[in-house]
Amino acid sequence: MNLWPSSVLFPLQWLLLVFTDSTIQPVSQLQPVIAINGLFPGPLINTTTNDYVHVNVFNNLDEPLLFTWNGIQQRLNSWQDGVSGTNCPILPGTNWTYVFQTKDQIGSFFYFPSINFQKAAGGFGPIRVNNRNVIAVPFAKPDDEFDLLIGDWSFDNYKVTRSLMTDPTIAFDSIPNIMLMNGKPPFGNPQGKAFESFTVTQGNVYRFRISNVGTTLSFNFRIQNHRMLLVETEGSYTNQTILDSLDVHVGQSYSVLVTANQVDADYFIVASPKLLNATEFSSLVGVGVLHYSNSVAQPVGPLPTGPDPFDINFSIDQAKSIRWNMTTGAARPNPQGTFNVTNVTISQTFILQNSEDVIKGSPHVVVNNVSYLTIDTPLKLADQLVNGSGVYQLDAFPVQSINLNASFGVSVVTGNHKGWIELVFKNNLEFIDSWHLDGFGFYVVGFGDGDWMAALRMTYNLFDPVVRSTVQVYPGGWTAVYAFLDNPGMWNLRSQLLKNWFLGQELYIRVHDNDPNPAKERPPPENLLFCGIFNKSASLLEHHHRP
Ligand SMILES: *[C@@H]1O[C@H](CO)[C@@H](O)[C@H](O)[C@H]1NC(C)=O
Ligand SMILES: *[C@@H]1O[C@H](CO)[C@@H](O)[C@H](O)[C@H]1NC(C)=O
Ligand SMILES: *[C@@H]1O[C@H](CO)[C@@H](O)[C@H](O)[C@H]1NC(C)=O
Ligand SMILES: *[C@@H]1O[C@H](CO)[C@@H](O)[C@H](O)[C@H]1NC(C)=O
Ligand SMILES: *[C@@H]1O[C@H](CO)[C@@H](O)[C@H](O)[C@H]1NC(C)=O
Ligand SMILES: *[C@@H]1O[C@H](CO)[C@@H](O)[C@H](O)[C@H]1NC(C)=O
Ligand SMILES: *[C@@H]1O[C@H](CO)[C@@H](O)[C@H](O)[C@H]1NC(C)=O
Ligand SMILES: *[C@@H]1O[C@H](CO)[C@@H](O)[C@H](O)[C@H]1NC(C)=O
Ligand SMILES: *[C@@H]1O[C@H](CO)[C@@H](O)[C@H](O)[C@H]1NC(C)=O
Ligand SMILES: *[C@@H]1O[C@H](CO)[C@@H](O)[C@H](O)[C@H]1NC(C)=O
Ligand SMILES: *[C@@H]1O[C@H](CO)[C@@H](O)[C@H](O)[C@H]1NC(C)=O
Ligand SMILES: *[C@@H]1O[C@H](CO)[C@@H](O)[C@H](O)[C@H]1NC(C)=O
Repeated sequence: MNLWPSSVLFPLQWLLLVFTDSTIQPVSQLQPVIAINGLFPGPLINTTTNDYVHVNVFNNLDEPLLFTWNGIQQRLNSWQDGVSGTNCPILPGTNWTYVFQTKDQIGSFFYFPSINFQKAAGGFGPIRVNNRNVIAVPFAKPDDEFDLLIGDWSFDNYKVTRSLMTDPTIAFDSIPNIMLMNGKPPFGNPQGKAFESFTVTQGNVYRFRISNVGTTLSFNFRIQNHRMLLVETEGSYTNQTILDSLDVHVGQSYSVLVTANQVDADYFIVASPKLLNATEFSSLVGVGVLHYSNSVAQPVGPLPTGPDPFDINFSIDQAKSIRWNMTTGAARPNPQGTFNVTNVTISQTFILQNSEDVIKGSPHVVVNNVSYLTIDTPLKLADQLVNGSGVYQLDAFPVQSINLNASFGVSVVTGNHKGWIELVFKNNLEFIDSWHLDGFGFYVVGFGDGDWMAALRMTYNLFDPVVRSTVQVYPGGWTAVYAFLDNPGMWNLRSQLLKNWFLGQELYIRVHDNDPNPAKERPPPENLLFCGIFNKSASLLEHHHRP
């Protein structure tokens, strides 16, 4: 069986066959799991800076599907971003080829299904963007690398959960059941299912690329008797710091180096949830094993203890200590610190507050009292064909104040092309939120408790803020980031928490460049799909049936 479309044979091509696999049961419950090429998690997409990547997705699910490439910036090319505002879904039984370039990027990322709550059923997999050989990396080449996707997981059928999202108790109060490491339940799980294990050789150094692929929970990551050297966050080399444990929030990715410098034995790898008592929620503690090749024994002793999960100060202090290494090159030889944000002039400020709300009897999550209304027509397609008209109204909702009445809306906001934007996220909820911006890396300049006010800009770190694409916002607190809007396109700004996103915590930033030169923004791809008000088959059908 030859499934490769013969017209597009490129060296960096991935074929992703997506289906629900009833034989993959990470836990004993019968539930649909979205597998890719028979794997859960899906296969590694292994690329190098500036590669053109072709990913041919065959949707064998019984419902529409889209993948998004978390943290891949899709430079000048939001056509490939794979969210509801940029792409028509890939219909069941059909295939679609994404083509994108990992332009000027390095680092650790992951992909996942972006619509229909499908992420709760899996469908995620790792992405690496390796450095080109000519670019120096600020640490010695590790002996091996491991991708480690960790996330909370629920026993329910995602379609049932999705349909119950109209119930406020389920939407707002339910807690996942278990923490999986690369799709595997914890060491010592009662079903005797395989747990995750990494084999290492004493004396060697390993790079772990850790991502939080879960739906809800931040976790603290640690390895028994081993310390970690933090080296990378979502495509930025950090000031290297030695850590006993690392907090990873939903949608974030990190690289740490681990030296196998202990006696030959097996050691626990732990990911325990934040803001939950690990004694009361012991099934939510992910446990894997670091196995020394000469070890013959299983790991022993209590699990390594991490910080108190309720100690938010630990987490904030650690977050503030993660800095950009300003002097190292990343994708290019010039140092990351070429962009010094100390003196930048801010052209726009958005202050975005989340909250839970019941609108017309159904639970929703709002941003400034607006719950994003997901529509069938991609905003980007509407921009291209009818300048947005009839699909959305630009700047119809406030981004600095709160809408007087809670409402639904297709919220699309102007981002000034080549302007610096300051985004302030305020979290009015009781759990740790996580915001993500497609199309850009943003500079994480500040965290604070309580309300944000302009005077708090004094507290920003404008010296060496780390650049990343997903940032946590602590309960009752705020986080501020800067981004340089040099990437024209239609860009999703969302909560990475699946329920929040599904229930409306998102909006789009439209960065428009009037210059039609295709060297600036790319034209639509040749395989552009049409849907919503531009669905040709639907309009033909309608035409055909018209008397
Ligand atoms: C990923 O690609 C790099 C560069 O081509 C190669 O050296 C490495 O072995 C690949 N890794 C995997 C796991 O395929
Ligand atoms: C994949 O999609 C293309 C474009 O729609 C189509 O021509 C091709 O037949 C499809 N391939 C398979 C194996 O379904
Ligand atoms: C920053 O990068 C430089 C250049 O690669 C390296 O020499 C230095 O050790 C790094 N500094 C820290 C604190 O990680
Ligand atoms: C980051 O590293 C540089 C160079 O070693 C140093 O000057 C700077 O103080 C470090 N920043 C932090 C926050 O550790
Ligand atoms: C967690 O729960 C256990 C048992 O209910 C209790 O003894 C312990 O103090 C709690 N720990 C924290 C950090 O709240
Ligand atoms: C956390 O830090 C804040 C600000 O520094 C301080 O007011 C508060 O008491 C600290 N909380 C704990 C539990 O240490
Ligand atoms: C950035 O610019 C400011 C102001 O000129 C300067 O104080 C600071 O040292 C610069 N940062 C770096 C990392 O060079
Ligand atoms: C920032 O502004 C200060 C004061 O105007 C100036 O001395 C400095 O050179 C500027 N730094 C950068 C990186 O532009
Ligand atoms: C497209 O829409 C924007 C705002 O929605 C408007 O400012 C602009 O003039 C329109 N352009 C054209 C060519 O109609
Ligand atoms: C948000 O909307 C709700 C419900 O419509 C309204 O009661 C509330 O006052 C609004 N919030 C603010 C801060 O205006
Ligand atoms: C808010 O909703 C109330 C009740 O439906 C209505 O009377 C009022 O006019 C609305 N206010 C705004 C600003 O839309
Ligand atoms: C287009 O319309 C047809 C006929 O109504 C429907 O079967 C199909 O799912 C629609 N396609 C998209 C991408 O919305």
